[in-house]
Amino acid sequence: CGIVGYVGPNNTVDALLSGLRRLEYRGYDSAGIAVVDEAGELTVRKRSGKLARLEALLEVSPVISQGTGIGHTRWATHGGPTDVNAHPHLGDNGKLALIHNGIVENFAELRAEVEADGVELLSETDTEVVAALLGLEIAKQGSLEPAFRSVVKRLHGTFTLLAMHRDEPGKVVSARHHSPLVIGLGEGENFLGSDVAAFVSSTRRAVAVDENNIAIITPDEVRITDFDGIPIEFAEYEVEWDADAADKGGWSSFMAKEINEQPEAIANTVRGRTAGRSVEIPELTALGDDRLRNIDRIIIIACGTASYAGQIGAYAIEQWARIPVDVQLSHEFRYRDPVLTDRTMVISVSQSGETMDTLMAVKYAIEQGVTTVSVCNTQSATIPRESDAAVYTHAGPEVAVASTKAFTAQITALFLIGLHLGRVRGELSTEALAEAVQQLEELPEKMRVAVDTHAEITQLAHWMADTRSVLFLGRHVGFPAALEGALKLKEIAYIHAEGFAAGELKHGPIALIDHGQPVFVLVPSPRTAPLMHSKVVSNIQEIRARGARVIAIVEVGDTAVLPYADEVIRLPLTDALFEPILQVVPLQWFALELSTAKGLDVDQPRNLAKSVTVE
Ligand code: G6P
Repeated sequence: CGIVGYVGPNNTVDALLSGLRRLEYRGYDSAGIAVVDEAGELTVRKRSGKLARLEALLEVSPVISQGTGIGHTRWATHGGPTDVNAHPHLGDNGKLALIHNGIVENFAELRAEVEADGVELLSETDTEVVAALLGLEIAKQGSLEPAFRSVVKRLHGTFTLLAMHRDEPGKVVSARHHSPLVIGLGEGENFLGSDVAAFVSSTRRAVAVDENNIAIITPDEVRITDFDGIPIEFAEYEVEWDADAADKGGWSSFMAKEINEQPEAIANTVRGRTAGRSVEIPELTALGDDRLRNIDRIIIIACGTASYAGQIGAYAIEQWARIPVDVQLSHEFRYRDPVLTDRTMVISVSQSGETMDTLMAVKYAIEQGVTTVSVCNTQSATIPRESDAAVYTHAGPEVAVASTKAFTAQITALFLIGLHLGRVRGELSTEALAEAVQQLEELPEKMRVAVDTHAEITQLAHWMADTRSVLFLGRHVGFPAALEGALKLKEIAYIHAEGFAAGELKHGPIALIDHGQPVFVLVPSPRTAPLMHSKVVSNIQEIRARGARVIAIVEVGDTAVLPYADEVIRLPLTDALFEPILQVVPLQWFALELSTAKGLDVDQPRNLAKSVTVE
């Protein structure tokens, strides 16, 4: 969920809506705001569905406030996406408003308690129970802050909470327990947000609130305490992203804009990390070369698209650093009782740095005493802050729910890590290192050519608009790229799609091939991977013989596939290991164009959220 809080002299509804617009990618099942209005009353407006519905409601039923407010955009957990279940929720006979991101696990017990105290609950949410509890506590303790401290100590689960009270205008209190919370420092105004997007159009001065802390903002003051009220010192930082970077510009969608930004995203991720035909990541150097030489196993943990970046990175790290690498889904990791020692390195990959499944896996790894490295796109997010080292991807803010530029930047960052480790461990010759560096440095330009496949793909998508199922095949690094191509199609075009290792097809899935079945095949470079190339060409013949319609993604000059492919998309020459970074781009366009052809919202597909902060 996305959360925003405001205290200050400006138009509060505008400040909240502007924050919510930028946070909507965190969930769009419902949206709502609460403010202290000009008559000094607490007023709530909320609606199920996207933010536009709340904005429409505010048009017909406006609220004026120059002061205090909180806003929420929801990804539903407890209770369906209805108006009643939308946040904010009220307590203390309508004088108190509260919003929440996370899950309160002991809510059933608390619900029984507040109902026994005579509170009538309207919604099915855990949040309303917390609002009710806070109301009862305020009645006992007389004011918001001590009551808020008592309540947060009683909650189990995960939460960011923001609360405000009619009788204490000019103040928003907030708490953080396993869910993100940042403060934005303005001039005579202050902000709270689940990430800096909530306030970056007003201020770039931010403070990250730590785990189990309470933050209280008034127009002129920011205080942080622990749950017992003991003051905590804090430091501010400057947000690198500017507000424009998180705007759509002239693009039809954020996703289209972000696909286009991939050349720069990769260039920015490589910049400052290659020099003199070598690779040096300062954050890894800071861990100490002896520590890096001692690593005997790497486990990459991630979810969704980031896990496919991890799978591709694993091939490169094994090849260059000669360390065995496993890739595990974050939410599966700890349940298998993984074998971890002080020689294990866990690399997490997360665009947001807030995905709860991944955060919990990282925390588990930290408890086991392993070295943790975070590959993350969001400055000062929780996962990089908790990890021993953070290797940032510098892709800039990614707003579309379906990840594109963050994905290719993640692969790039993992490649850099592989090269750094290979160098420190003496596994890479000077020539091999120089060659890889050159490949990385040439990538942005080649990426531009890959982005330019858009027109061809648009035509392809046009005749495939009615397609009900699409298969993707790849071998070696092409396999996870195929999985990513399929995921994109599922996520934004709602089309059944599956990715397979090309060699695996004949062991079962080939039974799916029927006349006209579209199959994308990621064909490895015949120059740099001749053996794999010839095997994939055979795989194409096998499916073609059974009626498949083959769309081959090849490197320019590959003529071997021409007789068997119905469509051919050509990409610039690169080493086979680097190919998925280019190959995935036409697949991203394909998903975008099919989604558009079906009239869907490319940036905000149903049921999903960009940053899932519950387990
Ligand atoms: C969600 C998003 C996916 C994303 C995954 C991991 O499920 O819908 O697009 O790949 O989270 O996100 P992260 O921020 O950890 O990279």
